[in-house]
Amino acid sequence: MGYAGLNPMTWMDDDLGALRERDRLRMPSILAYRDATHATLEGREVTVLCGNDYLGLRHHPELLRAANHATNEHGSGAGASRLVSGHLSFHQDVEEYFARHLGAGSSLLSASGYGANVGALAALLSSDDVVFSDALNHASLIDGIRLSRAQVVVVPHNDVDALRKAVRATTRHRRAWIITESLFSMDGDLSPMAEIEEIAFEHGCQRYVDEAHAIGVIGPEGRGLCHGMANPPDVRMIGFGKALGGSGALLAGPGSLRPWLWNHSRSFIFSTGIAPGPAAAARRASDLIASDPSLLQGLRTNIAVLHQALNSVGITTLATHPAVPILPVIIGDDRRAVEVGRALLERGYFVHPIRPPTVPVGTARLRITVSAAHDPDELRAFAGVLAEVLS
Ligand SMILES: Cc1ncc(COP(=O)(O)O)c(C=O)c1O
Repeated sequence: MGYAGLNPMTWMDDDLGALRERDRLRMPSILAYRDATHATLEGREVTVLCGNDYLGLRHHPELLRAANHATNEHGSGAGASRLVSGHLSFHQDVEEYFARHLGAGSSLLSASGYGANVGALAALLSSDDVVFSDALNHASLIDGIRLSRAQVVVVPHNDVDALRKAVRATTRHRRAWIITESLFSMDGDLSPMAEIEEIAFEHGCQRYVDEAHAIGVIGPEGRGLCHGMANPPDVRMIGFGKALGGSGALLAGPGSLRPWLWNHSRSFIFSTGIAPGPAAAARRASDLIASDPSLLQGLRTNIAVLHQALNSVGITTLATHPAVPILPVIIGDDRRAVEVGRALLERGYFVHPIRPPTVPVGTARLRITVSAAHDPDELRAFAGVLAEVLS
């Protein structure tokens, strides 16, 4: 090959231009938050209705105090991979706490839910395994499965009959896994956990469930959809970045899960341990949710208020469950979704439009989320403005 000269990577600009052309360009908005649900965006005061801080906890003084205390006591970071010198007494305490809190044999912290899913799945599955993966599973589940090279059967979303059929039809494998989310982030529906348990029991499948959006809001004291099941899933991923108001995650499972992942999960072995601050905040958040029922009550009231307000102006959402704070409104066309998002912004409401590839083509949507921190009157006013914008 001859000398070709320096490549200034103009192909990147071409690619970005093509995405812009198709209304698929992703750009983060810059927000300056005043509290859990109000921010300044592009010089405008807006009410945010697309975050995952469902309980409005990330500015809660108790969480800030817990995070600051842990940072002062144990440092701003773990200082190394935990297997080297970054396994602090603090990590040990938080993991024991969460194992008890979730009724699990053991738990293992991770600096992110993405890393937890990719690292755990790439380790737990192998090319000798078969995976039944819900069609709407999160990118981190898909990527972990891909890395493992397991045989994948994508099952239509929440379709129990299709799952049963697929499991029955598959024979040659070392282990079979059913992998799903418990509360789906983009559709706001719950997974049929009892039926999945039954199928797993009949066919000896293992279950891996991502509780990222359910934790803090669903189940007894917000301990997740799987909490209290006679036979909970083998592995649960608990995210700290949504209702728990922080960042990081945790994998919960049998007693052997933690030492097994120490030895096999590359995102654990080759990554710095979670910083003390976020882990302490997540622990404090779990305690608060369990000890103060008014938090969940406030959220449920606000969900009911928005449901009712949207209903009264004739707006249909995908939401079906009264405890789920995600109320998606399907727009369909990408450009229209962007226009609706922009029109809302001009009227003081921020709902980031979600487009493919995050959601299937033709289902661009407003993923409206409710927080306990919203004012009910503000939710009612929003419904009226949305109706006006959509008309
Ligand atoms: C269902 C689900 N799983 C995993 C993740 C990744 O978690 P994290 O943000 O902690 O990386 C997310 C979103 O961020 C999610 O929505």
